[in-house]
Amino acid sequence: MTVTVRAAAKINLHLGVGAVRPDGFHPLATAYQAVGLYDDVLVADADSWSVTVTGADHVALAEVPQNEDNIAIRAGLALTAHHGLDRAARIEIHKGIPVAGGLAGGSADAAATLLALDRLWDLRTSDEDLLRIAGELGSDVPFALLGGAATGHGRGEIVEPITDNGAWWWVVVGNETGLSTPAVYRHFDELNARTGTAATDPEIPADLVTALRTGDVDLLALSLGNDLQRPALDLREDLRRTFDDGADAGALATLLSGSGPTVLLLCRDAEHAREVAGAMLSKGHEHCWAVPAPVAGAHVVSYD
Ligand code: C5P
Repeated sequence: MTVTVRAAAKINLHLGVGAVRPDGFHPLATAYQAVGLYDDVLVADADSWSVTVTGADHVALAEVPQNEDNIAIRAGLALTAHHGLDRAARIEIHKGIPVAGGLAGGSADAAATLLALDRLWDLRTSDEDLLRIAGELGSDVPFALLGGAATGHGRGEIVEPITDNGAWWWVVVGNETGLSTPAVYRHFDELNARTGTAATDPEIPADLVTALRTGDVDLLALSLGNDLQRPALDLREDLRRTFDDGADAGALATLLSGSGPTVLLLCRDAEHAREVAGAMLSKGHEHCWAVPAPVAGAHVVSYD
């Protein structure tokens, strides 16, 4: 028997980052949204753990570990440890989410694996336990289970759903060269130290919460923000062109996705998103997707 679970990419509509904690992580106040780019994870019983990764983007796939360093296997080990089981599985990941893009693709794989193995082995893990195990695997993994829209606090792992009545459309502009999340956070610290401005306690803007509740795209455009944008652009000057091209293409707003290098272009509706994506393609941005949001969290798509 096999179980396949689909999990979506995340974006941060607002990513407020505070001064680094003693454990090396940063306190966050973020509003997550799940967008329509997906990884599918298939699991089947096996004598030992293995993972294979396929997808369209062969260059970036080489960067995904195909051994026990892969976050999907770590998710499997965490789940079996939780239940005191001596079992293993074959894991097949099919990636539609760009690798190292600031879209939490690895976190999506971990969340999908947790859910898929729970169903494969009929473990009936409680939601509370799944979210806790997810949080230990990575800051963005709990949100990948939830999907929709949610606030994130702590280092991002403390999630709470928020009302999102919008029917949003984004153009997601990928970049062939990935960006390391720890490197961007380190540069955030360096810039803070250099300017002597310790980050204040981050908060989610009230206007953003209102924009999501009312589905007001113009208000959303005004309330987006990402504290990692400055350090990421400092490390990757080339991304400025993507932002400029996005504005020229008629996006309502431009935003760095998480720690980058993916750039997000907010659009008015599906038709506008198709136009903007077409304009970006003609400007030479080969990896562009017009996607809806919010979309569901990790969910079973087949039992075979
Ligand atoms: O939790 P996750 O494994 O996704 O984090 C990857 C890296 O990003 C961490 O090792 C840390 O360097 C950085 N990070 C951080 N503060 C956060 C989340 C991540 O500094 N809140």
